[in-house]
Order: sequence, then C-alpha cells, then structure tokens
Amino acid sequence: MKYLLVQPSTRITGAVEVPGDKSISHRAIMLGAVATGTTRVRGFLPGEDCLATLAAVEAMGVRVQRRAATEVAIEGVGLRGLQRPAHDLDMGNSGTAMRLFAGLLAGQAFDCTLVGDASLSKRPMERVAQPLRRMGAGIETDNGRPPLRIRGGAPLRGIDCTLPVASAQVKSALLLAGLYASGETTVHEPAVTRDHTERMLAVFGQPVRREGLSVALAPAGRLQGTDVEVPGDLSSATFLILAAALAREGSLTIGNVGLNPTRTGILEIFRLMGMDLAVEPADVPPGAEPVGRITVRPSQLRGTVIPAALVPLAIDEFPAVFVAAALAEGETVVSGAAELRHKESDRIAVMAAGLRALGIGVSETPDGARIQGGPLAGGEVDSVGDHRIAMAFAVGASRAHAAVRILDTANVATSFPGFAALVGQIGMRVEERGGGDGDARG
Ligand code: S3P
Repeated sequence: MKYLLVQPSTRITGAVEVPGDKSISHRAIMLGAVATGTTRVRGFLPGEDCLATLAAVEAMGVRVQRRAATEVAIEGVGLRGLQRPAHDLDMGNSGTAMRLFAGLLAGQAFDCTLVGDASLSKRPMERVAQPLRRMGAGIETDNGRPPLRIRGGAPLRGIDCTLPVASAQVKSALLLAGLYASGETTVHEPAVTRDHTERMLAVFGQPVRREGLSVALAPAGRLQGTDVEVPGDLSSATFLILAAALAREGSLTIGNVGLNPTRTGILEIFRLMGMDLAVEPADVPPGAEPVGRITVRPSQLRGTVIPAALVPLAIDEFPAVFVAAALAEGETVVSGAAELRHKESDRIAVMAAGLRALGIGVSETPDGARIQGGPLAGGEVDSVGDHRIAMAFAVGASRAHAAVRILDTANVATSFPGFAALVGQIGMRVEERGGGDGDARG
C-alpha cells in the first residue's frame, strides 16, 4: 500500500501553478462529447477521476486526442450521437463522474451501467436517481448506492425540483438530463453551489437562467463545440496556501488559479482565521471562469467559528480547514457540514481520528467538530484512501514535531497528480513510499 512520509519543514517559498480544476475538466469532456464539432480543452487535469470520464466518453464512441498530458481535443458526436458502451462504465473514485453521467446518460437511447471503486460504491446515489426518475428516467441503484443501472430510451420531461441538499453534482445531473427533456428544467438549491455547469453550458451555446437560488434550462437542442481553458484547481491550491501560511518563513505565489466565487469560501475562512493572503484577479473575457493569483505569507492562525453559510462554498476544503484549526491558537468550530460524511470518506470522522492520533483534541458533532489548536506530534495517520485527507495531513505534518507517516495515499493521483514533487519544489519534504496499487479501499 502506498504511503507518504513527511518530515517537518520551516520555509515554504516559490511561484507555482497547480494542476487543472477537476470539476471544470469533467464538464469540458462531457459537454465536448455531446457537442457538435471539436472541443479543445487546455489545462485539463490528467488526474484519475477525469481520466475515468475521458475513458467513458471514448467507450461510447467519442474520438479523443491527447495532444499533451493537459491538452485534449474531443470530436463531439452531437446530443444523440453517443453509442452503447461494450462494457460497464468505470467511474473509479469519482462521485462527480458518476452523478453527472447519470444525468447525461438518462436521456440516451441505450442501456448502460455505471460502477465505481470501493469508496464510490458506498456513496449515496438516490439523491440523483430520484429526481431523474421524476423526469421519466429509468434508473436503478443498489439500495441507494452504485452500481447505477440506466435504461435507455425513456422520454424525459422537464421538472421543477427543489433539492433537499446543496449539491452541485445533483444540480448538474438535472441540467444535463434537461438537455434531453421536453420543456424546461428548473432546480432550486438550498444554498449556492459551484456553478461551473451553468457557465460552461452557456459557453457551448445553451444558456441557463439564474434567479436567486434557482436555475432553469430550456433545451436549445444542440451544443456547439468550443475551446475551454481550465484554470488551476483552487481545491488543490488550498493545500499549498495552507502550507505557506503555516511555515515560519518564505512567501508563496500561486498563479492561474480558479477564483470562481462559488468556490472561494476557503479564502474567506482562511482570512477569518487570520491568514495573510493577497488575491489578484486577472482580466478574463466575459463568461469565462474567473482566475487570478494568490500570494500567501507565514501567519499565526486563530481558532474561529466557521460560518455555516461558507460551507457549500468550501465543501472540499474541510480537511485543510481541520488541519488549519489544529495548528491555530484556540478553538475552531465547524457546523452545518454533515455533507462531509458523504464524501470520498466520512471526512469528519476520519479527520477527527487522524488529528487525535497526532495529539489534537477534537470532539465530533453530527454536522461538524470542535477542534482545539495545539502542538502536532509525529506519528501515523490513516487517510483511508481519501485524496484530500492525505494531502491535508501532509501539510499539517510539515509543522509537526517529528515525522508523520500517512497511510493509503494512492488516491492523491485522482485529483493532484505530481503532488509530492510540486510541494517538494516549494520546500515541503514529502516522500512517496510503498507499492502495489494501494487502492484497497479506494
Ligand atoms: C463537485 C461538487 C461537490 C464536490 C465535488 C465536486 C462538482 O460535490 O464535493 O468534489 O464537480 O460538481 P456535491 O455536489 O456532492 O456537494
């Protein structure tokens, strides 16, 4: 099994970029596949999650050219041009791939089955299957979990749907199914979630109306292939930002990173915790994803009550928030974050267990935790195959009093290929060790 061995470090410095945004990369491939004409994607994330999406569209007859690791050209087959795959579509570790494809494939003429690894096979899928059934889709889960069996040929109709949980994946699945529906599809969210699907549909010529917490799509019948520039992933940048803030010296700049306001909750949380953070937005054409540059300096962090309103805008960043809290002065309170229990792992329980193993006081609540800042000891933590937990502990371990071994880390490659090498460039001391596929638990 793969593991990371992390030694403490004091100086984090440099100017780097991080790999492409995972959410945007998935969407570019999916929309490019069902568009008319060619879509060129630059800055594509060659992580395992997005490669699963790429392999799935290829299995449905879409021609894909990899011009470089981060450059992909997709020959779109049109909304009705996908073909029945010869085998089950393997989504690997990726909840985004499975839930978005559920929507996209509900409207096709053929049957197919979506499967995933051990972690994905435990994640809730009725949240997407139920509203798709209301649209007329034939879709079955296995007691609420993958595999997803989709029966093709069902005519879809637009619905007006109020989501019980804030989920960009469910919203996106319904909008993608809405491309194939008769009439308009409207989704009401309980809180704003990432809007990459809405933005990208507009770029492909399919506008989506937003009013407050509601989005509506009236199918235009066609998507037009286009060029997509994928910015660096702010969720990946978060680990480097935290590392630079926790360092004793240095200064780190991260360029070309996505600054979509539905994703920047983490920057607000870090500021509330006292982080010395400068954000310079770049000029981008209208409709494009916001990008810019972030500079971070060593900062004394303080414990904070995290406003629940920021949770959906920073949903993937809580492993890093837990580590920031552990190394802050005083207590940090996380609440309104029950969704964390349904991610690649139960991120509340796994973060609490790992921090306790390193000597930090943490009490769990059903929807969050109270974390007492304190010195972090060396030792061993289990990331249970969750990429973001592994990377968050790698950052925390850089400020521990002795080496930390982080177990079950092969899945770092799902979202941040080259993590150990890149953080090495800025001064962290992270060694990848161990072998096998390391993915026993996914
Ligand atoms: C994502 C949405 C979020 C997030 C995930 C990516 C997306 O999930 O956690 O990593 O690309 O739409 P939920 O929609 O389940 O909150």
